Amino acid sequence: MKIFSAPDYTAMSRKAANLISAQVILKPDSVLGLATGSTPLGVYSQLIDWYEKGDVDFTKVRSVNLDEYCGLAPEHEQSYHYYMKENFFKHINIQMVNTHVPDGLAKDVTAEGHRYDKLIDSLGGIDLQLLGIGNTGHIGFNEPSESFIKETHRVTLKQKTIDANARFFASKEEVPRYAVTMGIGAIMGAKKVLLVANGAGKAEILYESLFGPITPEVPASILQVHPDVTVVGDEAAMAVIREKCPSAID
Ligand code: F6R
Repeated sequence: MKIFSAPDYTAMSRKAANLISAQVILKPDSVLGLATGSTPLGVYSQLIDWYEKGDVDFTKVRSVNLDEYCGLAPEHEQSYHYYMKENFFKHINIQMVNTHVPDGLAKDVTAEGHRYDKLIDSLGGIDLQLLGIGNTGHIGFNEPSESFIKETHRVTLKQKTIDANARFFASKEEVPRYAVTMGIGAIMGAKKVLLVANGAGKAEILYESLFGPITPEVPASILQVHPDVTVVGDEAAMAVIREKCPSAID
C-alpha cells in the first residue's frame, strides 16, 4: 500500500487526478470505478481542467459507480446519477452509454445487484476504483456488519451515515434509509484502488482502516489485503497515521 500525504485538499485532489489521468492515458478504454460525496469533487474538477486543456481523453473510458440511494430517480438532485452528470460527465467527452450507476428505483434490488455484477464482469472488471471513506469506515455504502458482502446489494444506511449525508438534503428526514451498493467483491477485484480522504473527521477512521484489525465492522479494513492500493489524504486526514505510524507515509 502506498500512502501519500498532501498539504491540502487541492493538492490531494491533484495527486489523485494525476493517478486517474495516468491510468486513462496508458489504457484509453479503462474501466473506472467512480465515487460520489464531497471528497472526490476536487478530483473531478481537476480532471475536467486537464480534459479542457487536451491532456486527457475520455472517449473510450467506461465507468461504473459505487452506489445509488434507493428510491431516488436519476433526475433527483441528490441522486448519484445526477451528481455524476453535473460534477463530471457533462463536462468531459465520456460517452454517456459507457457510464453506469446502480438503479436506485429497481423494484427487485437483488436482481439489480446481479445485473450490476454481471455488467462489471462483462466490462472485464474495474481497472481503477476511486473510493472515499465514510466515518463508519464504509467504502461504497458497505456499512459495518457481521460479514463482508461480496455482491452488489441493498444496504440499510447507518444513522451516522444518514447524519453525515443530511448536509446535502433539505432535512435529515429526506435522506434515504437504503442504498444499493457495489459489494466488497467488485471493489477488491479492481486492479487498482485509489482511496481519497480529507479533513480531520476522517483521521481516526482512516488510521483504524489501514492499520487496525481487518474486520467487517470496519469495511475499509479489507483494503489492507488488496495488492495495489494508493491512499491520498490531506494533512488533516493523515494526522493520526502521521502520529502513530509516521514511517508508513511515502
Ligand atoms: C460515495 C460513497 C461513499 C463516500 C463516503 C465519503 O459514492 O461510496 O463511500 O465516499 O461516504 O463521503 P464524503 O466524501 O462526502 O465524506
